[in-house]
Amino acid sequence: MRSLLVGFTLAVMCITAPRLAAQKVELSIDASKTGAKIDRNIFGQFAEHLGHGIYEGIWVGSDSKIPNTRGIRNDVVGALKAIKVPNVRWPGGCFADEYHWRKSIGPQRSVTLNPNWGGVTEANTFGTHEFMDFIDQIGAEAYVSVNVGSGTPQEAAEWLEYMTAAASTTLARERAANGHPAPYKVALLGIGNESWDCGGNMTADYYVSQMKIYSRFVRNFNPAQQDKQQMLKIAVGPGGDGPRWTDWTETVMKAYQQHTWSWDINGLSMHNYTVGHWPPSYASVGFGETEYSQILKSTLEMEGLISKHSAIMDKYDPDKKVALFVDEWGGWYAPLPGNNPGFLVQQNSLRDAILAALNLNIFARHADRVRGANVAQMINVLQAMIMTDKEKMVLTPTYYVFKMYVPFQDATFIPVTFDAGWYTHGTVALPHVDAIAAKDTNGKLWMEITNLDPNEPIEIEAALAGITAKSASGETLTAPKVDSVNTFDAANTVMPKPISAKVQGGKLTLKLEPKSITVVSVEQ
Ligand code: AHR
Repeated sequence: MRSLLVGFTLAVMCITAPRLAAQKVELSIDASKTGAKIDRNIFGQFAEHLGHGIYEGIWVGSDSKIPNTRGIRNDVVGALKAIKVPNVRWPGGCFADEYHWRKSIGPQRSVTLNPNWGGVTEANTFGTHEFMDFIDQIGAEAYVSVNVGSGTPQEAAEWLEYMTAAASTTLARERAANGHPAPYKVALLGIGNESWDCGGNMTADYYVSQMKIYSRFVRNFNPAQQDKQQMLKIAVGPGGDGPRWTDWTETVMKAYQQHTWSWDINGLSMHNYTVGHWPPSYASVGFGETEYSQILKSTLEMEGLISKHSAIMDKYDPDKKVALFVDEWGGWYAPLPGNNPGFLVQQNSLRDAILAALNLNIFARHADRVRGANVAQMINVLQAMIMTDKEKMVLTPTYYVFKMYVPFQDATFIPVTFDAGWYTHGTVALPHVDAIAAKDTNGKLWMEITNLDPNEPIEIEAALAGITAKSASGETLTAPKVDSVNTFDAANTVMPKPISAKVQGGKLTLKLEPKSITVVSVEQ
């Protein structure tokens, strides 16, 4: 009886063994074939005065028991430094077109309202100086959005003079009196936000006439930004799919083609959230494979959208002088119960980490045109990097993706060819894997490979040409479930862990866990 049982077990093992073997995907990378630089600005962040994005998330005030430097929380600064944030877009968002900078400088701050986001009061204790201090502490650059919707060109021009003038103007002296004699650097200027909607419901033609005026008069006077490091001006661009948005891009880019010496733009913004459908109703936690696959399917629409708008831009700007800035992107789900729905609080799961990797890879593949992107939003809002609760802080799965991708900042894109195969669930079919490669500024080769399949591992075999590869190692990010999250009580559920690959005869082999993001570097 026992030998019969053993025989039966062996027979079952023989039958099932081939099905247990991981599927294999072959990649081919020629490191001598290089593409565009992956601009570090595609790893930008977005911090709006919305919910606890600024207040509590960044700003606790210098009297707080939470350890801080001049009112800015030290734990958050430490975490953000580690992901080398290139720029922070501020103060909005919809908030920017109702923001009046004078109300948040100096010793007396006005208390105003934030009608866009939860109808709460805005203390204005975090203003220009606090923002500049914050980005200085984390080592990022300023991406300031000026108020086109309810402000004036004069208000915006004076704000820029206040921030950037070195000469002893009245505004520069006021800045000095408020604690900062040296001019601030403003790397990026957003000329309005969603001017087709919350930013003023403008037609494209009306916006273009406003944009020209702001571009002309809202000047940066910082002496260090006159020749090199000039401030880049980003115009409002499309906010979705369909003729409304292609018409908008056509109108702005046509105007750009005919621009004269007196005005210019360097970028066109694009906003595209992964929602599934409006209003956002997908759960951010407590979901299964169906919602996982549907949201990833939806996020991959970013590719088509960028291709479509890049093609329009190519018509009017074949030299690609105007960058596409995807300055709002990320998952937008149903607000978590128990919070002000206007605060856009949601959880951040392994699904969001995969969503982030897929989008970053799309941006990298379009690196010649996409030279900026800002994930929405940095702390406590939408697809956040960090969540805080009073003195507690937790790093989200998305945070770890941004950390793993640091080597891709300003790296040179290298094409990867592969047949991704398919992962299917119900009616949804998704590529089984996604991958990018790049050479960093020291010439080291880096690869990112995502396994979208939540159930099956994948064997990767990458043929490496153009380098003599000796070994490879890196990190992989996965978790028990597609909706695994990090919480204040269990902060390490979704954390990267080390992984090593085998390199032999110019081939790198690596086993990817289901639903995982892996970054490896190759030693030569
Ligand atoms: O990120 C939240 C909001 O989404 C922004 O304020 C707005 O620009 C967009 O509609």
